[in-house]
Amino acid sequence: MARKTPPNGNEHPTSTRRIGLSLGADLCWPACYEQILAELDPVIRWNGEDVRIACERVTIEPFNLRQPCSYDMVLDRLTHWYATSREWIKKAILMDDLYVLNNPWSVQSMEKHTSYAAMMRLGMPIPETWMVPPKAYAPHEDLRPTLRRYAKLFDLRRVGTEIGYPLFMKPYDGGGWRGVSLCRNEQELLSRYEESGTQQMHLQAAVDGWDRFVRCIGLGAQTHMVRYDPDAALHDRYTMDRDFLTPEDARILRDTTLTINAFFGWDFNSCEALHSGGTWTPIDFANPCPDSQVTSLHYHFPWIVLANLRWSIFCTVTRRPMRRTLDWEPYLAVAAEQDMPWPERLRAYGTLAEKHFDVEAFEAFCAEHLSDLDEIAWSFFGSDRARDAIRLKVSALFPAHEVERFTELFFQRVQQWRADNPPNKA
Ligand SMILES: Nc1ncnc2c1ncn2[C@@H]1O[C@H](COP(=O)(O)OP(=O)(O)O)[C@@H](O)[C@H]1O
Ligand SMILES: [Mg+2]
Repeated sequence: MARKTPPNGNEHPTSTRRIGLSLGADLCWPACYEQILAELDPVIRWNGEDVRIACERVTIEPFNLRQPCSYDMVLDRLTHWYATSREWIKKAILMDDLYVLNNPWSVQSMEKHTSYAAMMRLGMPIPETWMVPPKAYAPHEDLRPTLRRYAKLFDLRRVGTEIGYPLFMKPYDGGGWRGVSLCRNEQELLSRYEESGTQQMHLQAAVDGWDRFVRCIGLGAQTHMVRYDPDAALHDRYTMDRDFLTPEDARILRDTTLTINAFFGWDFNSCEALHSGGTWTPIDFANPCPDSQVTSLHYHFPWIVLANLRWSIFCTVTRRPMRRTLDWEPYLAVAAEQDMPWPERLRAYGTLAEKHFDVEAFEAFCAEHLSDLDEIAWSFFGSDRARDAIRLKVSALFPAHEVERFTELFFQRVQQWRADNPPNKA
């Protein structure tokens, strides 16, 4: 531990805590995160110490399971597909008390299917969902005897009739619209199933006639709701609409998102919900490495950068303990209160989730220690450095002749965010 003498002459022990960014294809948000953090360069008085923050990118290399971990917190975007980083993180949580967003065991084992079942159990209005055995199988020596003995011949048409049309066929562990298809009638259902190969599929009743589609991003104690247009071009799906939710709608979506995230131990995740006939129906809420790129978030991009900064600084400085195991019992106890009307039950889950995420302590921390952050970020997002960070991502995704046009488009949308969110209100 180093010691420094602050300008006023008072001497306080100083320590530096280290944040690691475990990244893959991410380019734009880490570039912004790092530059804003460097400019903020916080010195936060915490438990008698002056705490500073250092940040670096985690590299991939051989590791001894007993070697110490040099980070206090890691923000990880690789666990869902890159094993070496995931396994290093697991060992660091178990052996070195590392705090990680997100809990790698929970990300690895909790796919869409688990999230549907768990939230049905809590009483959420999830659409009727069936699982069907796959159309085809990878070779396995026990396959034939197993299927011959136990697989019951089934009539897919009867399942379709039971659910009703239209319905969606989608992989039980889906993501990024892979293998999702709309079946408007029996013929389409049979054809899509024929084409589904070895994928393990759900059939889910379509939420028909919805009037609003919202993606609610949760990052620790923070939530942000975006009106989503699934039919628009990729870069226009997150709309810039404002004021599309009543306070009651916003409360429902925040409680829903925080409940899911706290239940599964996900510090960041996004929850998709459709509004139809007065009900918000969550349809896709196992996204624990949510899209954070400027090329899709554009106007909302500064929000995610700021939310990442606030939550990771809070967790690091306060040494928020990593919750290694999940605790479902309090939620199941509320679920058992069958006489409690649904709005009250959802509020009760939301209250448990807010406790899990230390909402009050987090907000007090931000007010006391991060009061400069909004202004610094607001200026940064108007600068050429922000434009360069946007160009980095655009160059990786767009053909050369479109790079300047799209860089400018996304930069201008970020400027719109600045106009709508001056620092004193951000
Ligand atoms: N039950 C449903 N009702 C209406 N639309 C749905 C439903 N399920 C999926 N969709 C549509 O299909 C898209 C992709 O399905 P989703 O469950 O979000 O899968 P993914 O995890 O691949 O994003 C959704 O964004 C939505 O537009
Ligand atoms: Mg989705």
